[in-house]
Amino acid sequence: MTFCEDSINRMLLLLLLTGLTFAVLGFVSPASAQVEDQPSEVHLTWDHDDTAHTIVITWTTKYANSGDTVWYDTTSGGRDPTQYRYSATGSHYAYPDASEYFHEVELTDLTPDTLYYFICRGVNGGYSIERRFQTAPDRSTNITFVAGGDSRTNPQMRDNISQEMATFNPSFVVYTGDAVDNGSIEEEWDNWFTGVDRYWVTEKTDLSIPVIPALGNHEENATLFYDQYGLPGNHRWFSLDWGPDLHLIVLDSYASPAGAERNWLESDLAVHVNTLWKVVFFHQPVFSGGEQGSTVDLQEHWVPLFDKYHVDLVINGHDHDYERTYPINFSVSENSPVSGPERGTVYIVSGGWGAPLYEGSPQWWTAYGPVPIYHFTLIDINPQGTLTLKAIDKDGKVFDEYVIQKNPPVGQNSSPAPLVALVLIGCLVLVVITYSLLRKRLG
Ligand SMILES: [Fe+2]
Repeated sequence: MTFCEDSINRMLLLLLLTGLTFAVLGFVSPASAQVEDQPSEVHLTWDHDDTAHTIVITWTTKYANSGDTVWYDTTSGGRDPTQYRYSATGSHYAYPDASEYFHEVELTDLTPDTLYYFICRGVNGGYSIERRFQTAPDRSTNITFVAGGDSRTNPQMRDNISQEMATFNPSFVVYTGDAVDNGSIEEEWDNWFTGVDRYWVTEKTDLSIPVIPALGNHEENATLFYDQYGLPGNHRWFSLDWGPDLHLIVLDSYASPAGAERNWLESDLAVHVNTLWKVVFFHQPVFSGGEQGSTVDLQEHWVPLFDKYHVDLVINGHDHDYERTYPINFSVSENSPVSGPERGTVYIVSGGWGAPLYEGSPQWWTAYGPVPIYHFTLIDINPQGTLTLKAIDKDGKVFDEYVIQKNPPVGQNSSPAPLVALVLIGCLVLVVITYSLLRKRLG
């Protein structure tokens, strides 16, 4: 062996030893690798029916000791935790065969209708980029939200729809199920929540858009669904208010419709009977001319409650199309619509967030569709008592629109202008009467 060959061999040995050392250090010391362990799949939900004062932030890391803390404030603090006035610490958990750790933190005592900035994780794993959210209002005001579902196996179209949806700046999305193809596979949820984190951000104000999910059949009733969403109650059926005018109910259409869930539904509707707008969401359609068709069990057990307590809208998925019914009151007629939305409930099928589309045919209840089209449903509510529903395709084109007009409770949302006019007219009448009486006496 020459001197030159000997030197090369020594260098190769040194390189090998160096590489082995780094590999061993990286294996036994997660902290050294955590610099690159960026928080991912950040998403927002609610654990309690208090959307004006609370929010739940969930994210994923590769290591358990990355930290379970959220730093937050009403002004931007960048990536520096010392620049935030508030912090909250939650917990992390994993599964025996999972490759990641899930971190969940609930923020409480927030101010209504307020923009917050936050970063998450902790000193061991580094800090996330800054994100924003806005709490719900505690007064009557304009509301914009989105409903839809059924992305399943087509993440490209799913993300296309998500990006279009975000341009309408909704306060939250109610997702009616089948977000993934198999709810027991962690990689599918990773892909789903990565899409939510990346694309569910409002175009105008850069706010992360919270998700309110319903169980679809493809969620498989899996632990990965329950543990990655902070949700109220049993996570299967629950309700949330958004301000004083909107009551949202999420149901599990795969539980027994006649049992405990129906009892809960009736008591929840009875408590919120006077809320101006009541909208119910679940996966299987009640009325559908699509491939999956209507669900008779739900017509039998839930629809009488929707009739009795006058639910305004029921929004479903499962059929991969769009369909809107005329107002239906099944307790009045089982084969013809009623004359207007003040007498019945409008049922929407909105299953066009990416899964392969289905054909369908109109039925006696059908006002629009069924049409096989990728889309989402946008709902705007204003405090003057107008609800406007729009079905919007992947290019942002509105292809169906429906308006419900109501009289808001007197004194709550009514404009002061008519009252002022009445007082002025009353004063004028008094002046005229007084003047006439005076003229008679003097004359
Ligand atoms: Fe489904």
